[in-house]
Amino acid sequence: EELEKLISSDQFRASMYAFNLVQKHAKNPQGAPDPKLAIKVQKVGIVGAGLMASQFALLFLRRLSVPVIITDVSQERVDKGLAYVRAELDKLVEKGRLSADDRNRFSANLSGTLDLADFATCDWVIEAVFEEMKIKQDVFTRVEEVVREDCVLATNTSSLSVDEIAKVLKHPERMVGFHFFNPVAVMPLLEVVKAPKSNDVSIATAMKVAKDLKKTAVITSDSTGFVVNRLLGYLLGEAMRAVDEGIPFEEVADAIAPLGLPMNPFDLLELVGLQVGAHVLDSMYGFSSERFYKTESLHKLAKYGKIRTKDSKGNPTGYDPEAIKIVAGGTRSRTKEQVFEQLVEGLAKEIKLMLDEGVVASAEDIDLCMIMGAGWPFHLGGITPYLDRVGASQKVFGSTFHTPMIKGV
Ligand code: CAA
Repeated sequence: EELEKLISSDQFRASMYAFNLVQKHAKNPQGAPDPKLAIKVQKVGIVGAGLMASQFALLFLRRLSVPVIITDVSQERVDKGLAYVRAELDKLVEKGRLSADDRNRFSANLSGTLDLADFATCDWVIEAVFEEMKIKQDVFTRVEEVVREDCVLATNTSSLSVDEIAKVLKHPERMVGFHFFNPVAVMPLLEVVKAPKSNDVSIATAMKVAKDLKKTAVITSDSTGFVVNRLLGYLLGEAMRAVDEGIPFEEVADAIAPLGLPMNPFDLLELVGLQVGAHVLDSMYGFSSERFYKTESLHKLAKYGKIRTKDSKGNPTGYDPEAIKIVAGGTRSRTKEQVFEQLVEGLAKEIKLMLDEGVVASAEDIDLCMIMGAGWPFHLGGITPYLDRVGASQKVFGSTFHTPMIKGV
C-alpha cells in the first residue's frame, strides 16, 4: 500500500520524467550526424595549462587513453599544469580508484611543450585559454598552421561566438564548441556547439569524443551562452540585481532556494570563479541589455576575490564583511517572494525564446542540460515542467511547455 502511494505520487512522476530524459532521451542526441563520420582521435592537444585545461588533460588521459600534449605561454605554466595532473593521478591511486599501472601509463602519455609544432600529429585540439576573442582567434590561427587538414578544433568558450572565433581559420568547418561544466570531472554535460560552418565530420567527432569521455552531449546552436550559461547567467544576474538592490546575500539565496539547485548562487559564482562569472554575465548583457543584468558589483567582488567566509575545510560559513560592504547601498523595493516570482518568469521567457530561436531541438533538451550541467534536481522533473507548474509559463506566454503538464512537487 505504501509503495502504491509512492508510485502514484507527483514526485515519482517528476522523477520518472527526469529519469527518462537521462536514460533514454540522452542516448539519442537530437540533430547528431551519422556517428560513422567521426574521425579516430589518437592524440589530443590542449592549449592552456590553467586549472580548466589541466582538468581536461586529466579527463582525456583517463577516458581516451591516448597521448595528451599541453602547451601554454611559459614553461612555468606548462610545468604547473603537468604537476597538477600528476598529483591528481596520484590522489586517485591513493583512493584506490586507479591502479599504479594505469597511473604510470597515463602519466607517460602526458607531455608539455612550448613549441606548437609538437601538435602536428594531433587529431583533436581543444583550447581553454582566456575568454577573449582575439586571444582565442590567435591560438587557433597558430594551431591551424601546424595541424593536419582533418584535425578537429574545439573551443571551450562559455559565451563567445564559435563562428566568430572560426572566422580566422582557413577551414572553419573543422571547428566546434565543446563546452564543459565545473567541476569538469563531476558534471556529466557537454554542450556540443554546432556553429553555422561546422561540418558533420567535426560534429560527429565531437559527439564520439564526448561519448568516450562518458559525458552526455547535447547539440546546441551557436547562440550566446548556449543553454546552461544563458539560464544560469540569467539567474546569477538576477541574484546580483537583488543584492545590488540592498537585499542581503542570505535572503537572496533563500529566495532562489525553491528551485532546488545544489549550490546557492554565490557559492556557484565562487565555484566557476568570480572573474569568469563576471565575464559570462557581461557577455549575456551584451547579448540582450533588456533581459540580462549588468553587474558592476560582481566585477568589484571579483577584484576583491571572495564573497563567502569559509571554515578550515573550505565549507561556507557566511558572507565576507568586505563583500557585504561592496554591494551595500541600494534601495530595496521587493520582497523575497517577488524576487522568486520575477526570476521564474524571466527563466520561462528565456526558455521560450531559446526554443523559438532553435538553440536546441526541444524543451526536453533544455531540461536535460539543466539536470546534467547545473545539477537541477530529479524530484522536480525538469526546469520546463517546473516553470509550467509554478504558473510562470502561463503568465509569460499564455501556455505551457508541456501539454498535458507534467505533474510534480
Ligand atoms: N572540484 C572538483 N571536484 C569536486 C568539487 C570541486 N569544486 N566539488 C565536489 N567535487 C567532487 C567530490 O570530490 C566528489 O568526487 P568523488 O565522488 O570522486 O569523491 C563528487 O564531486 C561529489 O562530491 P560531493 O559528494 O561533495 O557532492 P555534492 O553533493 O556536494 O555535489 C557538486 C557537489 C557536484 C559540485 C554539486 O554541488 C553541483 O552539482 N553543483 C552545481 C555545479 C554547477 O552548476 N556547475 C555548472 C557551473 S557553470 C559552468 O561551469 C560553465 C561555465 O562556462 C562557467
